[in-house]
Amino acid sequence: MHVLVIGAGGREHALCWGVARSPLATRLSCAPGNGGIARLAECVDIAVDDFDGIVAYCRDEAVDFVIVGPEGPLVDGIIDRLDREGILAFGPNARAAILEGSKVFTKNLCKKHNIPTAAFEKFTDLDKAREYIQDRGAPIVVKVDGLAAGKGAIVCATTEEALAAAEDILGGQFGAAGDAIVVEQFMVGEEASFFALCDGRNALPLATAQDHKAVGEGDVGPNTGGMGAYSPAPVMTDEMCQKTMERIILPTMRAMEQDGRPFKGLLFAGLMITDRGPQLIEYNVRFGDPECQVLLARWQSDPLAALVAAAKGQLAGYEVDWSDRAAITVVMAAQGYPGDYGKGSEIKNISGAEAIAGVSVLHAGTKLGTGAEGDKILANGGRVLGITAQGSDIRTARGRAYQGVDAIDWPEGFCRRDIGWRAVAREEKAEQEGE
Ligand code: AMP
Ligand code: GLY
Repeated sequence: MHVLVIGAGGREHALCWGVARSPLATRLSCAPGNGGIARLAECVDIAVDDFDGIVAYCRDEAVDFVIVGPEGPLVDGIIDRLDREGILAFGPNARAAILEGSKVFTKNLCKKHNIPTAAFEKFTDLDKAREYIQDRGAPIVVKVDGLAAGKGAIVCATTEEALAAAEDILGGQFGAAGDAIVVEQFMVGEEASFFALCDGRNALPLATAQDHKAVGEGDVGPNTGGMGAYSPAPVMTDEMCQKTMERIILPTMRAMEQDGRPFKGLLFAGLMITDRGPQLIEYNVRFGDPECQVLLARWQSDPLAALVAAAKGQLAGYEVDWSDRAAITVVMAAQGYPGDYGKGSEIKNISGAEAIAGVSVLHAGTKLGTGAEGDKILANGGRVLGITAQGSDIRTARGRAYQGVDAIDWPEGFCRRDIGWRAVAREEKAEQEGE
């Protein structure tokens, strides 16, 4: 099977890593890929939104299966286009990708089907939004309806902040994505990410993870795409996973099917674990980045076979085997990220990190040098590497990941030193209590 992965991030490197170990894959391509993916796959210079280019490549190179990484092309209908061309692909079509494409759609679906989520109201009119915010008071959360590259949720500690956020969004700061806003109740709890593989009708729970969105240690500072993740998420006990399936994932699958929008692909629920159980914060319609890296590290059976089964509507009775070891990814980013950062600095001794037992280096924003510099790895983005490690528990995995970080010679990069702190604190507490 010739497999084409669409995307260029750490998530896509992890997907290529999973596909490359499948006996089903006879050829692997990635559009456009990055410096690390280039070691596993043929990287083809086609942008993720160039649907004509992607279809032409699939035809010319006899691609059998396409895996779409990022949300943008999914929301814009890449799966619909590939379906029309008769090319098998993994991901939701545009009608189903609306679960990530419109927060208003998802919140209304939750309301209609009693799926637990924060109480909310939708606004297109600023005066009405102001009135509601004044009435409810802070803390409160203001969200852009459409896609906003992870920057569309503003958690406001004061009414003034919320009023300013509503003004900015409805005033056009996010373009058409911000024509509507959702204003919702602030939820208290611990966050977790829950992943389910879906075939339109069936949903198969995968492993859980937790990420660190804030740039700073202690989870402070501006939000990023994710500075690190680990799996499993200790807060997601078997009971909590079961509640998530029963109260959130399965009702969503049924509602989408009834609405003529059967969901195929990866459904990623961002959850708040509250004292009333799991509440939905938001849906994403693709693997998380860097959550995908830790999932693929723990995925023991053939990931490609599972994604093909999902795309073909054959998940009934399907099982995925997971390693019971823990996995962690520490993201190394270019200094300045998530603000302005430089590109082009050389990253040395990645092989030294990879020589450590249990450590893999998954690339995000990297590229290979050109000409005589072809063997150099250069920084080419904000998030640049994901040092991924496994171990018997999060603490062991984390120790290895930071050994990997320390082996890498890249003065222009930085990472958070506390990835996994919640899980490590839990492990330490359990150990003390056990003594
Ligand atoms: P979202 O883009 O909807 O995933 O939101 C980004 C982040 O904002 C989440 O990961 C939470 O940390 C926070 N957040 C969003 N909605 C809420 C809420 N209703 N209550 C508390 N925190 C929230
Ligand atoms: N790491 C969060 C996301 O991929 O949306």
